[in-house]
Amino acid sequence: MSNRWVNESRRDTWRRQAKEEGYRTRSAWKLRQIQDRYHLIRAGDVILDVGCYPGGWAQVAVELSGEEGEVIGVDLVPCIPVEGAKLLVGDITDLAIQESVVKELAQRPLNVVVSDISPDITGNWSTDQAVSIDLVAKVLDFSLPLLCAGGSFVTKVFQGTGIDELIGVLKEHFSKVRRFSPEASRNASSEVYIVCRNHQPWRTPNISLTKRWEESMSRLDGNESGEDVEPSTVGFRVLKRTEAD
Ligand SMILES: C[S@@+](CC[C@H](N)C(=O)[O-])C[C@H]1O[C@@H](n2cnc3c(N)ncnc32)[C@H](O)[C@@H]1O
Repeated sequence: MSNRWVNESRRDTWRRQAKEEGYRTRSAWKLRQIQDRYHLIRAGDVILDVGCYPGGWAQVAVELSGEEGEVIGVDLVPCIPVEGAKLLVGDITDLAIQESVVKELAQRPLNVVVSDISPDITGNWSTDQAVSIDLVAKVLDFSLPLLCAGGSFVTKVFQGTGIDELIGVLKEHFSKVRRFSPEASRNASSEVYIVCRNHQPWRTPNISLTKRWEESMSRLDGNESGEDVEPSTVGFRVLKRTEAD
């Protein structure tokens, strides 16, 4: 059996399960598995879903945050509405759409930011990877000032250069930062999720995260160990409130 066949078969399993549960995407399972491991989203939370099209993560976020919660999604591509979510169309790095998000929040802080954002793929791996990580840094610069103390941030990044440096700067904002590879994205070896918990806004440095990450990149020593990737265990204890570790 070729690896390709095995990987396709696993992806089909998650797609089938997503369909059975009424989720729009296989990716919805990734957020479920991140939640199962880290318990980021609680009932009543205000959540920003970055790169929300076609709405699989928004469905999960609505389910987890419940009737008292609020989910705001943003994507370049318009989504079919998700009941319980406000889905905006635009570029998250664009000032006008950022203002729309702030307006939707109406002074409330975000409890959780979930980002499954992926840039358009050119096929040139190093370019795509660099664009992906730069986009994530920009999402962080916009959303961290809106995130409450104790809040969480999770984002997809493409594996490769610059992740260690990004994690380094994230540790200046959060007390817990982990890489995580959900079962549903295993063997899509290009992606990994960075899970940040316990936002500590009082530690925020005076320089933008993008700038600090770029400075850190200029000191890059090429160390991409990846040893701290945590595997997922499958299981769905959604809404459990205890700390993951
Ligand atoms: C993998 S998809 C997200 C899938 C989604 N989590 C789900 O489960 O339905 C990544 C999305 O990021 C969006 N995206 C890429 N760049 C963006 C940007 N600058 N602003 C907003 N969305 C962006 C893409 O349009 C794409 O729909």
